[in-house]
Amino acid sequence: GTTLGTSAAEKGRYFGAAVAAQRLSDSQYVTILNREFNSVVAENEMKWDATEPQQGVFTFGNADRIVNHAQSRGMSVRGHTLLWHAQQPGWAQNMSGSALRNAAINHVSRVAGNYRGKIHSWDVVNEAFADGGGGARRDSNLQRTGNDWIEAAFRAARAADPGAKLCYNDYNTDGVNAKSTAVYNMVRDFRARGVPIDCVGFQSHLGTTLPGDYQANLQRFADLGVDVQITELDVAQGGSQATIYAGVTRACLAVARCTGITVWGVRDSDSWRSDNPLLFDRSGNKKAAYTATLDALNAG
Ligand code: G3I
Repeated sequence: GTTLGTSAAEKGRYFGAAVAAQRLSDSQYVTILNREFNSVVAENEMKWDATEPQQGVFTFGNADRIVNHAQSRGMSVRGHTLLWHAQQPGWAQNMSGSALRNAAINHVSRVAGNYRGKIHSWDVVNEAFADGGGGARRDSNLQRTGNDWIEAAFRAARAADPGAKLCYNDYNTDGVNAKSTAVYNMVRDFRARGVPIDCVGFQSHLGTTLPGDYQANLQRFADLGVDVQITELDVAQGGSQATIYAGVTRACLAVARCTGITVWGVRDSDSWRSDNPLLFDRSGNKKAAYTATLDALNAG
């Protein structure tokens, strides 16, 4: 293929980008988005603070702008994210116990239900594990409602949108390490007990190196019977940026259950990072990392 999306599709994958609703009025941005990508995810617009700013009051305007743009062009949509310790509305930040648990599950049901039939994969829960060597859950108001909050969220999401693949999504889980092993053990337990989980998202916010066991880590999760997805890829600018993008792409293609790659923005100027981590430069030109990614998609 000659674009990221068509080349990925030839390999049975999608290639997506995180989209910010306000950039849909930037014609250069939209030109690149429509040409290169066949999947989108909302960078912020489906998060709890955006979709339920007051308890029980749901606002989907900006998220709908992204979903409508995608649907009218045949792009699939990832949902990000139903529950997360960050970007909660103020009212939820101040809640605890069964009141918070009930509000959180209601949020999952209402948002997943609103988009029922329109979402390829939902990040049901985002970043629930702590960094470091302990393999522990991250402390948060949600975690303090009880260790079963994650499985409760997955069950509610399944009931609300039975057609969506339900993912757990995290960062610093890109190689085999204590954090990724803790996630692995949770996924294995969920599969054993019939908790509805279909996929694991590896954010892959990368620096100047790619873990040597990146592909092996994807494969061990796939071997649990879940799909794996690269969900928020971006890579520090530097001599190795193109090589790392190509390595991530090759790893996904080498794992049968790696169903797609999403980059966390379009141009460097659209990124949350300041180190030019994306595939297009600030003028919208293709970077070396773009060519390396495209070539990796088209190899073999
Ligand atoms: O919308 C408000 C605006 O009204 C206000 O004037 C402005 C002032 O700060 O803030 C705006 O909100 C910002 C929002 O992005 C939209 O631009 C928030 O401050 C800012 O914190 C928020 O950052 C987002 C971040 O998640 C929040 O934690 C980034 O755009 C987004 O790229 C980033 O994405 C996360 C994924 O969801 C999860 N994985 C890590 C990834 C990178 O941090």
